[in-house]
Amino acid sequence: MRTTVGIVGGGPAGLLLARLLHQAGVDCVLLECRDRAYVEQRQRAGILEQGTIDALRACGAGERMDREGLPHDGVELRFDGRGTRIDFPGLTGRQVMVYAQTEVVKDLIALHLAEGPQLLFEAQVTAVEGADTDSPVIRFTHSGREQTLHCDYVVGCDGFHGVTRHAIPDGVRQTFERVYPYSWLGILADVPPSSDELIYAHHERGFALLSMRSPSVSRLYLQVPNGTDPASWSDEQIWGELDARFALADGSFKLARGPITSKSVTPMRSFVAEPMRYGRVLLAGDAAHIVPPTGAKGLNLAVADVVVLARAFAHLHTTGSAELLDAYSDTCLRRVWRAEHFSYFMTTTLHPDPEQSPFETRLQISQLDRIASSQHAAAEVAENYTGLPIG
Ligand code: FAD
Ligand code: DHB
Repeated sequence: MRTTVGIVGGGPAGLLLARLLHQAGVDCVLLECRDRAYVEQRQRAGILEQGTIDALRACGAGERMDREGLPHDGVELRFDGRGTRIDFPGLTGRQVMVYAQTEVVKDLIALHLAEGPQLLFEAQVTAVEGADTDSPVIRFTHSGREQTLHCDYVVGCDGFHGVTRHAIPDGVRQTFERVYPYSWLGILADVPPSSDELIYAHHERGFALLSMRSPSVSRLYLQVPNGTDPASWSDEQIWGELDARFALADGSFKLARGPITSKSVTPMRSFVAEPMRYGRVLLAGDAAHIVPPTGAKGLNLAVADVVVLARAFAHLHTTGSAELLDAYSDTCLRRVWRAEHFSYFMTTTLHPDPEQSPFETRLQISQLDRIASSQHAAAEVAENYTGLPIG
């Protein structure tokens, strides 16, 4: 098999890149190791930035998002028994959209199956070779057969645990990492969200987040110790803990309860691999960088990477110039590091570290109070949360 751009991984980054390349007339093949049902049901992100919304609309994948997604104009930060609202349009002129990653993935897969390009499920990539040659290859197993895809370029969209990153030699690749001393227990519950907008809550018992998937489904998260088994938390315990962490001093907040349909635990990590390109191999999305989920940045960063990358391949295709491709890593890393900082800031400001001193807790409250009382501080949060311009 032969193609111009071989894409490893059919998460949001790989699927959107394939769609954009197909529309630009650049030949590509997408290899995904899981089956379609698994990829479509993997519970993850829920918040789309303005740039992500625009990119999905522009490539024809925005129709259901515009029908079913919930545009949001703000979030609440809750701390010290009180809440403060960050007004996105007022501070930035932008919005975000609640529309689950599962739905973005379903919409993109439906377009692929209807219009192309070639998308192979259950195609396990075992190695990417020849990054420093003109014709890198992807080795993969499909239908029990070992196969080789010859490419002009390979893009690794295979997430944090993928193989493509390892095609960049150890001596070239630099990695930067921070692991946090807590995780998120996430639940889905069949109950209307108890607030119209997301609530990010700082509490001495731990962080909590109220989000949603639809007007009838709530998505909630609790900070828990690393290594927590989700089955060790009963439904009653989860609701009790959420009540305690979202409580307002005047007692006015009431969290509605409903049947919990899923429980899972996610560890928190910051990670960046540089450069995002070596020879004819490029990385995009979680394959190159991970953020802790508190700033809702992971999916949005993945989308921003592939928008920049698709533009660079289209430029090469139409003009023969590799100028934008050569700039790809630097262009993306600048934005990536800003999102890394914002995610780190949101995470360390809102989560009490189990080891932290009362002094550090006071600093967190003081920082949140600053955001509540200064338009400038609130605008900085709003600008980063709604997303910086792409490329
Ligand atoms: P992935 O989605 O990880 O996709 C990689 C794909 O590659 C997978 O389909 C995988 O099966 C495939 N693959 C891996 N190895 C191979 C191989 N060897 N061969 C073939 N295929 C392979 N982000 C936000 O922006 N907003 C949020 O609100 C948000 N909330 C989150 C909440 C949680 C609980 C979690 C866990 C994450 C959240 N994120 C959020 C992060 C977001 O989900 C990820 O950043 C996003 O999925 C990255 O997309 P990706 O396509 O780069 O990688
Ligand atoms: C969701 C996840 C996040 O990490 C976040 O910051 C906001 C919302 C969600 O899954 O809905």
